[in-house]
Amino acid sequence: MALTCARRVCMPLLLVLVLLSASLLAGCGSGLAEDADGEEIYNARCSSCHRRDLSGAIGPALGPGSEAVDRPLEYYEITITSGKGRMPSFGSTLTDDQITRVIEYILAVQRAGGV
Ligand code: HEC
Repeated sequence: MALTCARRVCMPLLLVLVLLSASLLAGCGSGLAEDADGEEIYNARCSSCHRRDLSGAIGPALGPGSEAVDRPLEYYEITITSGKGRMPSFGSTLTDDQITRVIEYILAVQRAGGV
């Protein structure tokens, strides 16, 4: 009986479970293309707390006229990679390149005077 279960029922069931969790994992992976540009990364990962126009909400404003304008590049890298206070860390969910691109996007919006 136990053997029948293993071969006929449990194995296919296990397979379905493995496939299901693999597709779920792929789904949560990020939904963000490896080569997504800074704006796409910002809107997908940052805008929920900092707003699409960078004016701030849960997180402080990052746009023109904000304190973030005077922060050194290193401060951005450390804050985004390691997190700070309620700001989550992105060191394990974004690549170094993606972090560079999202910083460049924020700095470009600051220079342009808005989104
Ligand atoms: C869950 C909300 C949340 C998300 C998502 C989030 N942040 Fe933040 N962020 C915060 C909070 C809160 C702070 C303030 C942290 C502190 O000073 O204690 C902050 C601070 C910052 C700062 C420093 C600002 C300053 O002037 O000190 C930068 C830069 C920043 N976030 C960029 C980003 C980027 C880029 C992303 C997306 C990759 C992002 N944040 C996603 C909540 C968030």
